[in-house]
Amino acid sequence: MGLTIALNRGRILKECLPLLEAAGIRPEEDIDASRKLVFNTIGGEYRLVVMRGSDVPTYVAYGAADVGITGKDTLLEYRGGGGFYERLDLGIGKCAIMSAAPYGAELNQNPLRVATKFVNIAEDYYASIGRDVSIIRLSGAMELAPLMNLADCIVDIVDTGKTLKANGLEPLETIAQISSRLIVNHASMKTRFDEVQSLIEQLRPNLPENCSPG
Ligand code: PRP
Repeated sequence: MGLTIALNRGRILKECLPLLEAAGIRPEEDIDASRKLVFNTIGGEYRLVVMRGSDVPTYVAYGAADVGITGKDTLLEYRGGGGFYERLDLGIGKCAIMSAAPYGAELNQNPLRVATKFVNIAEDYYASIGRDVSIIRLSGAMELAPLMNLADCIVDIVDTGKTLKANGLEPLETIAQISSRLIVNHASMKTRFDEVQSLIEQLRPNLPENCSPG
């Protein structure tokens, strides 16, 4: 069987499919129009599996998929130990992880109440700057937390900044620049080196400009 590639459903998938297509990798049917999760590709060289982004590192780390494509945010947040190499920056899905708070808010509370779904990233960041925080785990719509006085600030993905603005929040510190990365299972990197290398070389010429070699 060819290489199995784990793909992040949603926004990343939309940007990722044209890159795969340019590399000659086309699913046999329209992924967006299907409820299926596993797709063969035309020519049968690859198998594509779609899942939540946060599960991509897990599938790749355990070798259930040889390769995965997901956001750097997901990789920074992942705490499953090693199991994969990050081999390519695809230069898509660009955004930043930032802290944000209501305009003009004084953030001198101790501990600072931080709402986020990026609990590990937030903990690492505030530990690195020696700030005492109480992290409040949420699953989405983080912007709501300061408005409802559940938290003093948030740590979240910022793309255009429109969601922050619409909710009266201002961006503060940039914690990490994010883009989508290609990761490779440790064992697949050894046992299927030629196939993995060939996939990387097929993808590379079509990556957006100014994208680091990864
Ligand atoms: C992300 C993020 C913000 C928004 C930022 O949410 O959590 O809410 O996008 O984008 P903007 O800066 O362009 O306004 P997403 O739509 O991915 O949903 P999620 O929170 O459920 O992940």
